[in-house]
Amino acid sequence: MSGHGTALPMTAHKSGPLRGTASVPGDKSISHRALIFGAMAVGETRITGLLEGQDVLDTARAMQAFGAVVQQQGPGAWTVQGVGVGGFSEPADVIDVGNSGTGARLIMGTMATTPITVTFTGDASLRKRPMGRVTDPLSLFGTQAYGRKGGRLPMTVVGAAHPVPVRYALPVASAQVKSAVLLAGLNAPGQTVVIEREPTRDHSERMLLGFGAELTVEKTAEGNVITLTGQPELRPQSVAVPRDPSSAAFPVCAALIVEGSDIFVPGVSQNLTRNGLYLTLVEMGAEIEFQNPRTEGGEPVADLRVRFSGDMKGIEVPPDRAPSMIDEYPILSVVAACATGRTVMRGVKELRVKESDRIDAMARGLEACGVRVEEDEDTLIVHGLGAGNVPGGATCAVHLDHRIAMSFLVLGMAAKRPVTVDDASPIATSFPIFEGLMTGLGATLKRDL
Ligand code: S3P
Repeated sequence: MSGHGTALPMTAHKSGPLRGTASVPGDKSISHRALIFGAMAVGETRITGLLEGQDVLDTARAMQAFGAVVQQQGPGAWTVQGVGVGGFSEPADVIDVGNSGTGARLIMGTMATTPITVTFTGDASLRKRPMGRVTDPLSLFGTQAYGRKGGRLPMTVVGAAHPVPVRYALPVASAQVKSAVLLAGLNAPGQTVVIEREPTRDHSERMLLGFGAELTVEKTAEGNVITLTGQPELRPQSVAVPRDPSSAAFPVCAALIVEGSDIFVPGVSQNLTRNGLYLTLVEMGAEIEFQNPRTEGGEPVADLRVRFSGDMKGIEVPPDRAPSMIDEYPILSVVAACATGRTVMRGVKELRVKESDRIDAMARGLEACGVRVEEDEDTLIVHGLGAGNVPGGATCAVHLDHRIAMSFLVLGMAAKRPVTVDDASPIATSFPIFEGLMTGLGATLKRDL
């Protein structure tokens, strides 16, 4: 929901060792999509393992506003009575998607080819983020959008009454934009084609196939050519949401940098469009064992055993890996600060338009904690000090960004002096059990009253 309550400052103290099992909540991307596709199917979709974070709850409320019936049956267990492709009714009020770019962009795509008018808003962070990247391709279907300067929320979107299918080559590597176009293509006649030069998370494609849509993905010299046949009848599904690899990244990285740690993290996605951080950590010398590979909820997963890794080295992260770890650069830069030598992250300008400008937020906070960084528009370089050598002793600004808050709290668990974040409340958007889970492993986190 938009508006922001009282700030919740929190301090992480030198901790550990971290021990035990870190069972992280359901995947945020898949949780949003399960609710949205469930709302577009005819009949009852059953979801287990849904992330009950604020972002996803805001999407659930939005689906209700469009006429779907969304009900919680138990912890993580939800049902959605869908209204069918093109069956959305016009909401009686503004759709408030809170902090969630995924919610905003996917829901815009979902209603874009139905003749209804919807006004979207969000919190102060989301109202700064660009929506033109979605409304530009949606306009090709015949959708109109009227937002603030720079394509910012609040924005009113008028769905196309007579949508035409589109062919669209993504100008940015963005799964949100890809998904918005595919969702809009569902209610357009004929074939909608999306071309992505660099592969991004493929949960929408997997789920569209699961719900019975006709979709093909062809690997060509131009990249992935995704072709969707419009106006299918989507069949309701049982969706088991796997755990979120982007949330797992926090206990995993904490264990790598907190001396003496040895933790078990079950069910971490090995989906090639999501596992870039884990490849990078292994290249840096992280001690991670990938055990019991299997499929869960349609996703390849493994259990991770993670041990403190005192001699990690900085590396050059291949820029073409960015889409598969785009949400993990903040926590990677914390690990980089505790490794020896430079970690170079290039091709990361998308970080500037996330929940905050993540290059700036990490650079300022790391500097305040005594770590040398270099940055330009598209690059972040962290000069690592080696395990146990980060001074800490600073308060870092979070800018309403859950991943910035969690990253600096993890840094504080390994730094010499405590690290405070000015507001830990945004963590509830994606990882509501973060504080309890981390303290359960042995971290010292204190709310500053
Ligand atoms: C997401 C896509 C990514 C990611 C976000 C979730 C999704 O955003 O940063 O947290 O679920 O599609 P972009 O598509 O803007 O890269």
